[in-house]
Amino acid sequence: MHTAMTLTDELPQEERARVDADDAYRKFLARLSHQSVVKHYDAYADIPWDDPAYAIDPEDPRFELMADDALGATAWYRSQPAPVRARLGLHTIATFARIGWQFESVLKRGILEYALRLPEDSPEFRYCYHEVIEEAQHSLFFHEFVRRTGLQVRPPRILGLADRQVVGFGKRFPELFFFFVLAGEDPIDYSQRHMLQHKKDLHPLVERISRIHITEEARHMAFARHFLRRRVPHIRGVKLFLLRLRTMGVMKVASMMMTRPSGHVIRTYGIPRAVLKEAYGPGSRSEEFIKRALFKPRELCWELGVLNERWAPLWKRLRIYAPQGSPV
Ligand SMILES: [Fe+2]
Ligand SMILES: [Fe+2]
Repeated sequence: MHTAMTLTDELPQEERARVDADDAYRKFLARLSHQSVVKHYDAYADIPWDDPAYAIDPEDPRFELMADDALGATAWYRSQPAPVRARLGLHTIATFARIGWQFESVLKRGILEYALRLPEDSPEFRYCYHEVIEEAQHSLFFHEFVRRTGLQVRPPRILGLADRQVVGFGKRFPELFFFFVLAGEDPIDYSQRHMLQHKKDLHPLVERISRIHITEEARHMAFARHFLRRRVPHIRGVKLFLLRLRTMGVMKVASMMMTRPSGHVIRTYGIPRAVLKEAYGPGSRSEEFIKRALFKPRELCWELGVLNERWAPLWKRLRIYAPQGSPV
């Protein structure tokens, strides 16, 4: 019986595997790009900002921190008057939104740097632009949310220190750049899912924004993971050392920013040092939350050898370590 030979059948096995992998990668990117066309959101058309039910009152008890939140669980927080608890909770959400759009600004610029250097036939180009457009919509709704709280919000200073350098990694060291992407996106995603799942009587605006964000971020993280699985196994020597070192640092910084209140919030509400230690110090509730929030990117580090037994002691010292396969 005659069997049709395809072009790839004639290639040596190794080469054929590469072509097959390239083909699967193209199909994956085409699927993601298609999803960005049929399932995407507009920051203004798809959020009813002016619906009275969506109005923000800083003393709305629905903004209070969750009972299992590191700070929300402290006796100090629970002893505050109800309006202060609500305002502090809203301030925390607004600070995360502020961090979110600043992080997305770095992300968009880095992706544009990466896309600028892609060859004409690269299927990544189109997907990268979909991602930039989606991030721009997210920044619009994060910004609009912060504006409507009427609160003064200052992001942690550390965020602005290395942003140009990280953008440059989009061009010079995309593997490190996409680990930076995951270190930011994964913990945010984890926190948002946790909130949707466990917070009773969620404010509808917070819920709407979180649901849109979770839907679109799933694509961004899937892209970053595929990209890293393809590229990291080819990295060797000094570059691999730098990738291991910097990815670990990025994970630590990103997780701290996404879980701790900013210095500005600490000063505004006079949160005592002892309370911060109780909530965020060694062995705290927050430490466990961070480890869980970092589970997926950390697993990818294990899988790709960016984290291994030799590097484990350093991850332990930074309190972001968990054995492979374990969330904590
Ligand atoms: Fe985003
Ligand atoms: Fe994203």
